[in-house]
Amino acid sequence: MKNKITIAIDGYAACGKSTLAKDLAKALGYTFIDSGAMYRAVALYCLENHLIDTNGVVNLEQLEKSIGSLQIEISSDQKVFLNQKDISEAIRTPRVAGIVSKIAAIKLVRQKLVEQQQALGKAGGIVMDGRDIGSVVFPNAELKLFVTASDAIRTQRRLAELRSKGEQQSEADVLDNLKSRDLQDSTRAESPLIQVADAMVLDTSNLNREEQLAWALLEVQKIIEQQ
Ligand code: CDP
Repeated sequence: MKNKITIAIDGYAACGKSTLAKDLAKALGYTFIDSGAMYRAVALYCLENHLIDTNGVVNLEQLEKSIGSLQIEISSDQKVFLNQKDISEAIRTPRVAGIVSKIAAIKLVRQKLVEQQQALGKAGGIVMDGRDIGSVVFPNAELKLFVTASDAIRTQRRLAELRSKGEQQSEADVLDNLKSRDLQDSTRAESPLIQVADAMVLDTSNLNREEQLAWALLEVQKIIEQQ
């Protein structure tokens, strides 16, 4: 078996990154890390501990004091733990989605999470998805993908996901959240979402899960053969 590679997947909200990353990791026997879940965990922590007020103002001083002791873990079955508490469901609510981009724009939050993400990927054999994976977390990743999908498809996918969890949100509100996060994520000062020059673009609008996986696996195979 040739060396295990690192796969970095970036893209806008609800474009199918995590689904592809998860499927790729399963097919290759690699570790999958949803870096967005880690930012959502910090956002949930801020909500639960009143570190963000109703106007969206973050108590940076308090956050700085507590961030060092925050323990965020992702188990192999993709459960997310914050200080040993299972928060897998709690981080997927519209409330968390409403503030996560604000929290993810904070430098000290990014420093802490990027450090943890780089440590997780040190040995290779990892598929990580997010917004700054190919640009900042793993700039030397052997395969970088930039995933896109139309607004309509992204909205339908996220609506279905929320409904399956019993969350009721209108189509307009879902689209609104996706667009506002995309704007915040791609215009922030700290490692904004960009399409790096060496990323391959994959538009998943007209591909099903199996088709997008097959496409990506072919790319992985080409890279492994060239090693
Ligand atoms: O799944 P979805 O596309 O809705 O987003 P996510 O991957 O769960 O990420 C939630 C938010 O975390 C994003 O909108 C970004 O603000 C932030 N994020 C980030 O800044 N950097 C990453 N590497 C991953 C997520």
